[in-house]
Amino acid sequence: MKATISEILLTEEAIRNRVLELGRQLDRDYDGPIKMICVLKGAVPFLADLMRAVTKPVFIDFLAVSSYGQSSESSGVVRLTKDLDESIEGEDVLIVEDIIDTGLTLQYLRQNMLARKPKSLKVAVLLDKVERRRVDVPVDYVGFTVPDRFLVGYGLDYAGHFRNLPYVAAIDLEEETHGES
Ligand code: PRP
Repeated sequence: MKATISEILLTEEAIRNRVLELGRQLDRDYDGPIKMICVLKGAVPFLADLMRAVTKPVFIDFLAVSSYGQSSESSGVVRLTKDLDESIEGEDVLIVEDIIDTGLTLQYLRQNMLARKPKSLKVAVLLDKVERRRVDVPVDYVGFTVPDRFLVGYGLDYAGHFRNLPYVAAIDLEEETHGES
């Protein structure tokens, strides 16, 4: 499929301002250090900006998850493909995600993290595709509510492309035509 950017939904400036606001909110809400857990790969730009928007001490760790199958639809079965490097027991943990869609990934991650006995567990997502939700999962910090469109940029990809765009855009997909016309 050929992907073309059809519309910029969130400009670089809009994202920067919202992430700074979220950082100020985290500063108000937390007394001590925050352990931010970045869910690879899409949340990398959000984590990088959010952690620098906070003045309280921040520690970071990374994990990766995968839904089984090749489908872009979440299968509902999630597995860890990369675990955290360190224990989170007794820590104030914030899961940092780029987007929540069905909610299945976050539901799994919350259960998995809670079993490790953090002192507290909250969730920050940059983008909430609220109309796609299939399970009710608590989200504490939301950057933007977004429509049900195929979004790329600021970490989000289409087949690995577009993660480095500084803005969030919707794409159009069309069949590639092969052969001579
Ligand atoms: C995205 C996103 C979440 C998940 C949300 O990850 O980062 O982990 O999908 O979908 P859900 O709410 O329906 O479970 P993706 O599989 O695109 O991986 P990536 O971050 O490595 O691109």
